[in-house]
Amino acid sequence: MSPRLGMHTLTAGRGLLFGGDYNPEQWPEEVWERDAALMRAAGVNLATVGVFSWARIEPEPGVRDFGWLDRVLDLLHDAGVAVDLATPTASPPPWMGHRWPQTLPVDESGHTLWYGSRNQFCPSSPIYRRRALALVADLADRYADHPALALWHVGNEYGQVCHCDVAAQAFRDWLHERYGDLAGLNEAWGTTFWSQRYGDWAEILPPRRAPYLVNPTQRLDFQRFTSDALRAHFRAERDLLRARTPHVPVTTNFMGLFKPVDYWLWAGEEDIVANDWYPDPADPDFPARAALTHDLIRSLGGGRPWLLLESATGAVNWRRHNLPKPAGQLRLESLQAVARGADGICYFQWRASRFGAERFHSAMLPHAGPDTRAHAEVRAHGAELRRLAAVVGEPVPARVALLHDWPSWWALEEPGRPSDRLNAVDQLFGYYHPLWRRGVAVDLAHPEADLTGYACVVAPNLYLISDAAAQALTGYVAGGGTLLVGPFSGVADPNGHIRTGRFPAPLRAVLGGSGEAWLPAATDRPVRCRWADGREFTASVWTESLRVEGAEAVATFVDGDLAGSPAVLRHRHGGGVAWYVATIADPAPQAELIERVLVDAGVTGVLGHPGAGESGVGSGGSGGTAGPGEMPPGVEAVRRGSVLFLLNHGADPVDVTVSDPATDLLTSEPVSGRLTLAPRAVVALRPPR
Ligand code: GAL
Repeated sequence: MSPRLGMHTLTAGRGLLFGGDYNPEQWPEEVWERDAALMRAAGVNLATVGVFSWARIEPEPGVRDFGWLDRVLDLLHDAGVAVDLATPTASPPPWMGHRWPQTLPVDESGHTLWYGSRNQFCPSSPIYRRRALALVADLADRYADHPALALWHVGNEYGQVCHCDVAAQAFRDWLHERYGDLAGLNEAWGTTFWSQRYGDWAEILPPRRAPYLVNPTQRLDFQRFTSDALRAHFRAERDLLRARTPHVPVTTNFMGLFKPVDYWLWAGEEDIVANDWYPDPADPDFPARAALTHDLIRSLGGGRPWLLLESATGAVNWRRHNLPKPAGQLRLESLQAVARGADGICYFQWRASRFGAERFHSAMLPHAGPDTRAHAEVRAHGAELRRLAAVVGEPVPARVALLHDWPSWWALEEPGRPSDRLNAVDQLFGYYHPLWRRGVAVDLAHPEADLTGYACVVAPNLYLISDAAAQALTGYVAGGGTLLVGPFSGVADPNGHIRTGRFPAPLRAVLGGSGEAWLPAATDRPVRCRWADGREFTASVWTESLRVEGAEAVATFVDGDLAGSPAVLRHRHGGGVAWYVATIADPAPQAELIERVLVDAGVTGVLGHPGAGESGVGSGGSGGTAGPGEMPPGVEAVRRGSVLFLLNHGADPVDVTVSDPATDLLTSEPVSGRLTLAPRAVVALRPPR
């Protein structure tokens, strides 16, 4: 990542970015002029252009038609709209698959995925690569000096997976690089199991449809390979762009907690980390899920400002049932992203399509035109974002790190484990949610990252753990840190092989306890547990049979064979404290657990300890009650730079008490004392300078 070309290259002179995908190839030219004028009126200053324009630019192999794109870029530039110009390589034209069917992706069952949709390419195809790069080079040559060009958008939402013969050869090459020889591969894949030993590289295949369970390490490596193959293609395009336009940052659009691609490895390849985020209004937890996603994206970029490149003003075409977004929701979602470090908010798309698979996808400009509530909200919000100049470029400081690792996610969710009910994202969210409810700022981090700057590290699940990560976590606690580790962690090595001995073998010393059996829980009754003070709580899904080895049992199981054995361990190790949780606690005890861990770490929410009434905000009105340390229900609090954002995601007004006088940047009104946050209200409070 090049700090030289971060978001500031875009925000300088523009402030927060606001805009969306623009697909002018779907419209006659007279509409383009209207679009440019309407964009200007809506405060749009960034448009992503050309994502799906390959067939328009290259109608037949080797032919180029850039004239229309010249006019689009000129028009946008004249309207004051900067362009995020896409390499249109996500959707090759039909001629590619027709003439070169070997460029088409093949699924696990050997079925070709045909053109007529999008994304139909094999990431390892040299023909696809060659034709894509030729087009990218010409595109970059053509627009290198165009004044509208502000950002390169490589491809779109990388995630293609291909199991074809070309991919098979690329997979073998990748494995050769990783293991050196077949002996290494056989060892790593454990091929003495089920007579799977390979005697020739040519025998090795991507995981394909087989009579029964496929080798889990083969599948794990294929996921690593696929992420790397996509990244290699991204790099090839990026390098062409950088060579021609070293002054223009390069990005691609991520998809949050998207399983197929290891974004920790990807993020460093880009100048700006960008994300597409489509919260589901029917999901009651979506505000916290959004916060988690935004925190991930900010963290992938090392804390630097990021770009929300796609979101929806309303319905999407790919959900089976779209609940409407109420008035004010667009603004609330946008400001949440800004509060969590976004320096730009964009939508898919500017003008709603009349035809094609996305004809019922919402847009900034709906089918009904500008004289609509939806467009009025867009315009009002575009204008309002100008008021937030004070947060542009500002960081979101966090003292808690939440660990997440893609290979561990892949390995954990392989078939053939003790229970398929313990999943990586559920675990992540289960630990994130109580932190969010407390207004505790969180960074996501890779398990091998330098964690010494954090007061508290939470590892909801580290099924697969490297020796380096285990040593670093142990050292982190010895050095004074507070660590919380969730169940079924420290189980496997990077090959996905079980680490033998009492578990979690590499974390046993730091956790001060160990286990001997993973015991998924009955589905028809809760798991009863008891805190050391005698109060009971319930958990579900999972239990483990543990014993203490220096730790205290903070909670124990109540029933059956596990009666009296530890459910939660707390262990002083060196200067710090480590916790281990051997079950999945219900939300209230989970919140209590987090609260106790935060006390050990000396971490409070951004407003101190609101539930205890010490400072910051207090709840009231009809907003319900908050547990110890929690924000009033529905309220999110996060500080970006010196600005404190309070957002009410709830359906009821909430009274909050603001202890220090401040100005709400969104209204320029002074605020102090009691303040009522209406449903979907946001304040951005800046202390007096
Ligand atoms: C994204 C994609 C866009 C558009 C959008 C619809 O996945 O990048 O091109 O399809 O979804 O929600």
